[in-house]
Amino acid sequence: MSNKDIFYRELVQLTDAIICDESDIIANMANISALLFERLSDVNWVGFYRFIDNQLVLGPFQGKVACIRIPSGKGVCGTCVSSGEVQRVNDVHQFDGHIACDITTNAELVLPISIEGKIVAILDIDSTLYDRFTDEDERGIKLIVEVFEQNIVRHTSYV
Ligand code: SME
Repeated sequence: MSNKDIFYRELVQLTDAIICDESDIIANMANISALLFERLSDVNWVGFYRFIDNQLVLGPFQGKVACIRIPSGKGVCGTCVSSGEVQRVNDVHQFDGHIACDITTNAELVLPISIEGKIVAILDIDSTLYDRFTDEDERGIKLIVEVFEQNIVRHTSYV
């Protein structure tokens, strides 16, 4: 197991410990974004957008002020929603339609958060470093998203 795999295994355990007894999705988004912002190296923005009425609406985050609403299909985040796929972008300037909330951002990782096959939110992580996110990062962050999805399903207040 690589150092990064060990790092993410611990981060998954920490995430679970922080959210396991809490059912409020906003509170959990706030703490997950704070945890990831603190623990991940070279990230300048970590946060959530909730998917409401076919648009993404800014949720809890850490970092600079960001755009509030993103239609499905627009930018990296909206593409994540319309495709249902993780978007790992090594150079956002090469991504057609990228929305530059912060001009210093160069790489971005966006994952869907799905409940019963429906996307309810996305997790967006930005970096000023090109190629910041590797396969291992994507795998590790996906595990964190899964812990969160299981939490939401367990506490059915959101769906
Ligand atoms: N860059 C994103 C917009 C959200 S911010 O980065 C926080 C996009 O292209 O969808």
